Amino acid sequence: MKILGIESSCDETAASIVEDGRILHSNVVVSQIDIHAIYGGVVPEVAARSHIEVINPVINQALTDAKMTWDDIDAIAVTYAPGLIGSLLVGTLAARTLAVLKNKPLFLIHHVEAHVYANFLTEIGVGDSEIGNGSKGLQFSTPLPSSQPLFPMLALIVSGGHSQLVLFRDHGDYELLGQTQDDAIGEAFDKVAKILGLPYPGGPSIAKAALEGNPKVYQLPKAKMSGKYDFSFSGLKTAVLRAVQREVGVDFTFPSFQLAERLGERERQDFAASFQRTAIETLVDVTERAYNDFQPKSVVIAGGVAANQELRRILQKRLPLEIEYAPMSLCTDNAAMIASLAYYYAQKNQSVDPLRVEVVPSLSMTKTAWSNL
Ligand code: KG4
Ligand code: ZN
Repeated sequence: MKILGIESSCDETAASIVEDGRILHSNVVVSQIDIHAIYGGVVPEVAARSHIEVINPVINQALTDAKMTWDDIDAIAVTYAPGLIGSLLVGTLAARTLAVLKNKPLFLIHHVEAHVYANFLTEIGVGDSEIGNGSKGLQFSTPLPSSQPLFPMLALIVSGGHSQLVLFRDHGDYELLGQTQDDAIGEAFDKVAKILGLPYPGGPSIAKAALEGNPKVYQLPKAKMSGKYDFSFSGLKTAVLRAVQREVGVDFTFPSFQLAERLGERERQDFAASFQRTAIETLVDVTERAYNDFQPKSVVIAGGVAANQELRRILQKRLPLEIEYAPMSLCTDNAAMIASLAYYYAQKNQSVDPLRVEVVPSLSMTKTAWSNL
């Protein structure tokens, strides 16, 4: 079954064709990072407008890269929740229109659930004979996992909007073990980067600065949570702010946007490394606890922060099982994960009437997500 996936929930416009949930035929992602970087974050109105400009070319490119026509496509899948309302509307409207015009079944996919399915892509389509010098979206810095994760599977989902630990017993049968009680981890990376004067998006720039820094220079607190598998990152962010104020010799009344100019290069790198180490250890401590309690057959990480190399290294060091990581570019937003999940989703759920689709900007990933539709 070949599914065309469409993703536009935040600031990436993406389309991809995946066969049977695991064979990647094309993966087109147009990022708006450069547009939003000047504002220091995603501007919803700007995001929606730029989705409108590129959505059709992106979908056409996904077909061209896969060397397929509409006749080859069995179904269309699109992100309908959660995300920015204007951004979601553009993707779903494109998907609905195409489902009607091309007479294809339409499946609605939950973005956060879908992040996990980046780990289910194990093969590159043989249809693309030019792999290596062929379509850009199929060239990865590391290989795809050699096999799919086994159930029960423990998934650590860490993105700009989410930090949660989920135990999957099967496709669509999962339990939310714990989640952040305040900021998402990616949000903390982005906010701390702002304090340190590092460019947007904060995750990759903190990771880069941290490579040159010493994580032991600044002692930052790990939050103690009442929920056994819960996280908290807002206290850590404030602790960085206070430590930076101390370092440059000002108090809390000093404008925080002027702090970064007073930091030296070395301090900036040490702060990045110290923050990154504490944030990652918080994630790994909780994941290790859940691993010991539930003894899953596989552990996966998903979402933009899963691209973090230090998180991958420390998690692998602390867990006794071999972890196969998805390539970094499949951890950040893409449509391959949407098309992959849609295959498993379609085994257990009905397609929707394309004329009656609503987007849901905030919809947490709960046990009932598959039965909501
Ligand atoms: O999953 P994603 O692309 O979008 C959401 O659904 O939120 O995640 C984006 C988040 C941003 O906060 C970004 O700073 C973070 O992922 N991120 C990273 C890295 N690459 C992206 N965080 C830490 N290390 C990275 N290498
Ligand atoms: Zn995402």
